[in-house]
Amino acid sequence: MKKVDFNRLMIYARAFSGYSPEREALLVEASKDIMPRLSEVTEQFYAALHEIPEARPFVEGRLEQLKATHHQWLEGLLQGPCDVKYTEAMYKVGAVHVKVNLPVEFMAGGTCLIQDSFIALVTDIYAAEPARAKSILEAINAALGFSLMVMQESYQASSLAEELEKFLAITGMSRPLFNNLAEAYKS
Ligand code: HEM
Repeated sequence: MKKVDFNRLMIYARAFSGYSPEREALLVEASKDIMPRLSEVTEQFYAALHEIPEARPFVEGRLEQLKATHHQWLEGLLQGPCDVKYTEAMYKVGAVHVKVNLPVEFMAGGTCLIQDSFIALVTDIYAAEPARAKSILEAINAALGFSLMVMQESYQASSLAEELEKFLAITGMSRPLFNNLAEAYKS
């Protein structure tokens, strides 16, 4: 894998997603209320994927394992910290999805499903405090947006690397020769 500047990527993804330290602190605080019902988000996620014919084959046969991984990831999403280590971990998650040939749009699609579940859950938990519910949902939206951006950045890099590997295997061209050619054709 190409060397990635995870600190730069973290700053970049924070800027787009609006995941500020204040929002992160709010999520950590809210996690105490959300955590007891977090499995609802995971259950709804896999129930929704089961209804999507294109998604079902990726989940079948490993549902329980995927649910456990997903729940663990959600805990980390809420409890933080959203630091360089988390950025690197989400980058690796993106690469795992490339390895299992998941279409790239599943990342955005999956994020929409998770957002949807959180809207229902958070508005229910904070039914008596709508302003607080709104702030917490804004923070969740930012945290999910951050994670999505990092996974997609990884997707792009991993897919290109895999395409290049295929090209080298098909043509029999060596990597040093490819690198020399690429260098020569730099504009
Ligand atoms: C927001 C979207 C998603 C997130 C945050 C997410 C999260 C994760 C995480 C944390 C892992 C474990 C990575 C590791 O082993 O290090 C994983 C693996 C995996 N996910 Fe996702 N996932 C998402 C969407 C999806 C969707 C939509 C599908 C399928 C329809 C899917 C199918 C899989 C599969 C097949 C694996 C690999 C399991 C294995 O063979 O090890 N994911 N995902």
